[in-house]
Amino acid sequence: MSTHLDQPPAAELAFDYDNLLKIIRRRYSVRRFRPDPLPDELIEKVLEAGRWAPSGANHQPWEFIVVKDRDLIQRLGEVFLREEISLRSGDPKFNWPQYSYVGEAPCLIVVCADPRLKRVINRPRPPENREKTFLFSIAAAVEHMQLAATSLGLGGIWLTVQELDQYELELRQLLKVPDPIRIAIFCPIGRPHAWPDINERGVHTRRPLRELVHHNTYDVSRLRSEEQIEEFVRTVTLRKGKGSWETETEASRTALAERLTGRMLRWMSWHRVPGLTPVRVEELRARARHDPRVRLVRLFADVEGGQLMCVSEAATRDEVTHWFEACGLPAAELSQLQWEGDHASIHEIALFEHATQREA
Ligand SMILES: Cc1cc2nc3c(=O)[nH]c(=O)nc-3n(C[C@H](O)[C@H](O)[C@H](O)COP(=O)(O)O)c2cc1C
Repeated sequence: MSTHLDQPPAAELAFDYDNLLKIIRRRYSVRRFRPDPLPDELIEKVLEAGRWAPSGANHQPWEFIVVKDRDLIQRLGEVFLREEISLRSGDPKFNWPQYSYVGEAPCLIVVCADPRLKRVINRPRPPENREKTFLFSIAAAVEHMQLAATSLGLGGIWLTVQELDQYELELRQLLKVPDPIRIAIFCPIGRPHAWPDINERGVHTRRPLRELVHHNTYDVSRLRSEEQIEEFVRTVTLRKGKGSWETETEASRTALAERLTGRMLRWMSWHRVPGLTPVRVEELRARARHDPRVRLVRLFADVEGGQLMCVSEAATRDEVTHWFEACGLPAAELSQLQWEGDHASIHEIALFEHATQREA
C-alpha cells in the first residue's frame, strides 16, 4: 500500500536543505535592534512557525503574548535591567549579558505555557519526566520562531525567565499572566542592527562535528577529561560575552577603532596555547617587534585561559602563518579582516581586549 510517506519530494527536499542550513547558520542572538516597527504580517508568520513545533504527545503547551506597546516594552525592559544589575552584583566575574536593548526592541514575544497540558503526556511517567517533555516542547516552538524570524530578515533572542523569582513576579504582573500559566522565555524580536558575516569566526563559534559525533556507540576514547571541560568552559566564558559586544557603545567601539586604525588591519588569529606564561607572551611580543614581515598590531593574551589573539597588518596570509610557525605557535584560526564595516571582528577584538584586561 502506498502512503504519502513513500513519495518524498527528494529533489525539493535537497534544495530546501541548503536554504534551511543557510537560515540556521544566519540566525544569531540579536542584542541590538533597529527601531523600525514590525508589520503584523511578519509577526504572524513567526508565530505560525511556532505553532507548528513538535511537542510531547502533541500537547502543544505554548501560548504567545505579543507585546508591541512601547510603554509596556520599556517597563518590561526595566525589569530585565534590574535583574542584570542584581546578577552582576551576585557574580561580578561572570560575563553577564547586558539587557539594555530589551526595552528598545520593537516587539516582544513572551512565550508562556500551560502546565495543565502535561496531563496529555503519558501518566505513568514520573512528573519530572513530564516536566522535561514540557520544557523541550516549548524550546522547539521558540527555535521554530527564531528560525522563521531569520528567514524573514528579522532577528531575536532567547531570554530565560527565572521562575519563582521576584523578577518573574513583576513580569507576571505587568503582563497580567494568571496562574497556573507559566512564563517560559522572552523573545525580543526585530530587525537586527547588523548581520555579521557568517564566515567570520566568533559570530557562530560552534564545536566541529568531528568532536560531537560518535558512530554506532559512544567512542569512550573521546570522552573529554575534566581539564578539557574546564578549558572549554573558560574559553566559552571568556569569549561568550556577545551580550556585551553586541551592545558595546558606539563610543567605545569608535575609541577602539581609533586606537587600532592608522594601521592596515588585515589578519586576526586566535590560538589556544596551553601552558602560556607572561614571559612567553612578552617573548612573542619582542619577537614580533623584530620581525619586519609579521607587522603585529596587537597581541592580546589570556594567560590563565591559554589563549592568544593576534592582529596583524602583514601583507599576505603566508607571512603571518610563517611567523606563527617560527614562534612555535599552534595552528591558528585566521580570519581576514575587512576593516570597513567589519563589526563582528571589531567586537571580537574589543571583547578580547576587555576580557584580557579584566583578567589581568
Ligand atoms: C535555552 C536558552 C536560553 C538562553 N538564555 C539567554 C539569556 O537568558 N540571556 C541571553 O542574553 N542569552 C540567552 N540565550 C542565548 C545564548 O547565549 C546564545 O544562543 C548562545 O550564546 C549562542 O549564540 P548565538 O545564538 O548567537 O549563536 C539563551 C539561549 C538558549 C537556547
